[in-house]
Amino acid sequence: MKQIKVEGGHRLSGTITISGAKNGALALIPASILADEPVRISNIPNISDIDAINEILQYLGAKVSRKEDYMEIDASKIVNKEIPQSISTKLRASYYFMAALLGKYKKVEMFFPGGCSIGARPIDQTLKAFEILGAKVIEDHNKYTITADQLIGGNIYLDMPSVGATINAMLVAVKAEGSTIIQNAAKEPEIVSVATFLNNMGAKITGAGTSTIKIEGVTHLHGCFTEVIPDRIEAGTYLLAGALMGEQLTIQNMIPKHIESLINKLIEMGYSPIIKSDSITISALEHKKPVHIKTLGYPGFATDLQQPITVLLTQCQGESILEETLYENRFKHVPYLQKMGANIAIEGQKMIINGPSKLMGAEVEATDLRAGACMVLAALTAEGITTISSIEHVLRGYENIIEKLKSVGAKIELEEI
Ligand code: EPU
Repeated sequence: MKQIKVEGGHRLSGTITISGAKNGALALIPASILADEPVRISNIPNISDIDAINEILQYLGAKVSRKEDYMEIDASKIVNKEIPQSISTKLRASYYFMAALLGKYKKVEMFFPGGCSIGARPIDQTLKAFEILGAKVIEDHNKYTITADQLIGGNIYLDMPSVGATINAMLVAVKAEGSTIIQNAAKEPEIVSVATFLNNMGAKITGAGTSTIKIEGVTHLHGCFTEVIPDRIEAGTYLLAGALMGEQLTIQNMIPKHIESLINKLIEMGYSPIIKSDSITISALEHKKPVHIKTLGYPGFATDLQQPITVLLTQCQGESILEETLYENRFKHVPYLQKMGANIAIEGQKMIINGPSKLMGAEVEATDLRAGACMVLAALTAEGITTISSIEHVLRGYENIIEKLKSVGAKIELEEI
């Protein structure tokens, strides 16, 4: 088991370089099996979720070579066999294999996916999309057997703009016969990235990044190259570290447009970040105005930044309100922030945060990935030593977090216990 020990209160200055997007790479890797020839993906982050998705690729018999941040995947000779529960539950993104195998072989057998325990996270919209495209879904004790005699394009209206369902619908529709329209599609940059990758393979997708995506099915997808986009949630997390403790902290190799909703909230609080085409520089601010934030699908405020920004709201002067609209159980960081001295009340899906509160070091837990990122931010801000347990959750999604924070002045160590 691993834990992180942080001595808080140190200023952060210098430059942090952002890695490839976890949620981008985790969709591109399963999508790669649709190609009949090898594909190459660069800017893959070195995080444990990538190891978990690779385990599925290798279990299916794909040839994978990974050097530095490159991966070459040759899925031309994979075997379409049941993906066991022991590996499907390691992460949420395993269910992209459900779609990619169905698209490629018209049959897939696998279990309900895993992922952070932040809500029920049903997959009904993905299954609905499969059925509209001609598949038959049988569920038995969490195991899904999905088959189709023929995959035929159709009109898919998603009840909510789900990232996973939008990508899964695209992965099947690219090889279905005829045209598919996905309406009320999610608009996240990771969706545009998957569509671009599939188009590079020869797919015909238009409209990705808007709420209506159109796909003309093709019979063959060929090899190609793509690059993972920068991780907007990692960039947002470090931008928040800069807002809390920065002295001219620069976050580089990022796309500011991808976190516009966060930047606008920082400006509302009174910050003046210096925004360039691929970097943002920010310094801590003494008096910050409280704000109201509601999580929404892109381009709204990202739920994945809700837990990290809670720390900053504890430092604003007055009452802030933070509403979580996507996940019913994404407040597990709150008791630990309260233990550190934060004044937060929970009312349904809203947090009422009264600041500023002096945060003091404590023993806390990373209950999930973004709760862990929140704990790291709180620890950097607090007076004294904070120990964060269950840090494996954080290492799933933040490449070299210890090294990156140390390089800008944080006093942070990873310990084996
Ligand atoms: N939903 C349904 N039915 C469905 C699909 C989704 O009710 O069939 C609901 C979910 O329960 C949730 C909302 O719709 O309330 C949005 O879920 P979505 O499908 O968009 O999320 P996801 O694809 O499961 C991805 C990211 C999450 C991120 C969300 C929202 C990956 C691997 N995961 O999840 O990332 O929170 O989109 O942006 O891409 C994280 O990185 O920490 C993380 C949890």
